[in-house]
Amino acid sequence: MSTPSLIVAPSLLAADFARLGEEARAVEGSADWLHVDVMDNHFVPNLTIGLPVVRALGGATTLPLDVHLMIDAPERWAPGYAELGVYNVSFHAEAAEDPVSLAKDLRAAGSRAGLAIDRDTLVEPYLDLLPHFDTLLIMTIKAGFGGQEFIPELLAKVRVARRHRDAGHLELRIEVDGGVTESTIEAAAAAGADAFVAGTAVYGAQDPAAAVRALRRQAQTAVAQ
Ligand code: DX5
Ligand code: ZN
Repeated sequence: MSTPSLIVAPSLLAADFARLGEEARAVEGSADWLHVDVMDNHFVPNLTIGLPVVRALGGATTLPLDVHLMIDAPERWAPGYAELGVYNVSFHAEAAEDPVSLAKDLRAAGSRAGLAIDRDTLVEPYLDLLPHFDTLLIMTIKAGFGGQEFIPELLAKVRVARRHRDAGHLELRIEVDGGVTESTIEAAAAAGADAFVAGTAVYGAQDPAAAVRALRRQAQTAVAQ
């Protein structure tokens, strides 16, 4: 399978939780990854789903699962997600005691490893750790809830990460998450992101698959310019 240059990852947070399997399958032909937000009511005030539901989702769709852990004590829980066979597991830099050691554990358990950076966290202190990671998830909102407005100033972190990646020839996806819509995705792509999470813009649309295709076209246009 060839690697697409840009990844579009619908977030199930904006989907109908009573029909998660169908909602996942609705974007199977158009999306690259399916983004799954795990929240624990500690690291963030919100509470969503955990291991049993992610396990069930893995059996309900052929899409690679991109699990975004917004939880405390990721050392304790993250490897369990990797062991389910999900594609990528991202945990928050703010919650991890030893990000590099956890990344190694995730890779050893068979998944990619992602480092997530919340709104109020600088990216610079983490640049030297990036060779241990496959994805860097830069929040473009404060983590915790869908449907928030994109914060364009946070793209400065994307630019810094992209320059660092290109200079060091790192194999790293730079993923943006939060408020990504048809009106904000171009700026994120132009800043250097190459993976785009979109919840409301996909599952709030009449036709989620068409919304994914439209987002991809816009990101591709921005990169081509
Ligand atoms: C929020 C989550 C996001 C969220 C994005 O903390 O990490 O993945 O679902 O939703 P939208 O696209 O609506 O901002
Ligand atoms: Zn997310």
